[in-house]
Amino acid sequence: MNGKRILLIIGGGIAAFKSLDLIRRLKERGASVSVVLTKSGAEFVTPLSVTVLSGDAVHDELFNPLGEADIGHIELSRQADLIVVAPATANMMARMASGIADDLATTVLLATDKPVLIAPAMNVRMWEHAATRRNVKRLAKDGIKMVGPNEGDMACGEFGPGRMAEVPEILDAIEQNISAENSNLVSLDRKGPLQGRHVLVTAGPTREPIDPVRYISNHSSGKQGYAIAAIARDLGAEVTLITGPTNLKRPDGVWVIEVETAREMKRAAVKALPADIAIFTAAVADWRVKGKAGKKIKKAKGKSTPDFELVENPDILKSIANHKSKRPDLVIGFAAETNNVVEYAKAKLKRKGCDWIVANDVSEEGGVMGAETNTVHLLTANTLESWPELSKSDVAERLLRRAAAELSGITQAAE
Ligand code: C5P
Repeated sequence: MNGKRILLIIGGGIAAFKSLDLIRRLKERGASVSVVLTKSGAEFVTPLSVTVLSGDAVHDELFNPLGEADIGHIELSRQADLIVVAPATANMMARMASGIADDLATTVLLATDKPVLIAPAMNVRMWEHAATRRNVKRLAKDGIKMVGPNEGDMACGEFGPGRMAEVPEILDAIEQNISAENSNLVSLDRKGPLQGRHVLVTAGPTREPIDPVRYISNHSSGKQGYAIAAIARDLGAEVTLITGPTNLKRPDGVWVIEVETAREMKRAAVKALPADIAIFTAAVADWRVKGKAGKKIKKAKGKSTPDFELVENPDILKSIANHKSKRPDLVIGFAAETNNVVEYAKAKLKRKGCDWIVANDVSEEGGVMGAETNTVHLLTANTLESWPELSKSDVAERLLRRAAAELSGITQAAE
């Protein structure tokens, strides 16, 4: 980040204290940092601490005669290589999404032609409110990048998504956005055949607890689902990736919702609707243990092995494919089979009520789980295509380009 100029806008929220650390870490990496402190931000951190850490005067007035003569808001927005809003409150995001400019921060954001990265932080209910969901979509469409929020305990005592991303995560996102801008590798304005579309992807295994330390799971790596999420983003979509536990790096510029169990995955998927395309690559555990033990089950001499009663998990694909009011236009399932691959996949297409099935062979000879390549068949209501062995990214791209073409057909037919 040597020599890079970051304009940091600190909004009002308890997470503002993390932004002080962010200033220090940016400076350690050689960046210069100017700060706009909003009025509510100043309720949480003082202008003095910001000045001391950034080594620069804090900008906090819109109509400051001195400031305007010296460095006006237009200048401020143009001098930066990247503008970072952390914390970005629900209110700030709403004003940004509507193009309102009623203080220095929002005026700068409206006047800028530079990339903008936001780190949202708010109460979980505010984050999940339909208005915020709408604003997030609009901001993504406008090319605004986002890091976080994370899920966890909140200052207000609730639990869920809404915690501001941690400083190392924000630093990573800043680095990626600066290098993206320099190399022009990533389109910041989200153009492409999936522009304006919301793509929902499930990925990875689920983990079904037996007791607090043990669980039932499977070998799914999540690679195919993560590749689909990343390529959908590159093709211009807003992407929600709902993932079970994996070792993969979260793709940048994608909404990531981390879950463990099938029931959590279903809840997250339903909550993420509406979507234009939903792709289910997750290897959801078919069963869970009925009534998980609250304490670790102990091994005892002379005692027989524990009996587990298994109950069936919800079928996420089936329930979204049959959703009454919010069925996505295109619902795509994956079918992993060890034999009779195409025949079983055909039956699955009907049983689940989805539009397409991507079928692959997971027999040991097929060796798909965890591998970098995939050999698949694409089944639609009345066609079958067998694709050659491709990298998981190429499978993703081929599938998503087909999906984009299908959707534009659907949209045209409806018009
Ligand atoms: O029935 P089967 O597990 O073979 O179906 C595979 C497809 O259904 C995959 O797309 C998988 O992600 C999805 N699925 C699901 N919820 C389940 C089981 C499977 O979404 N409980």
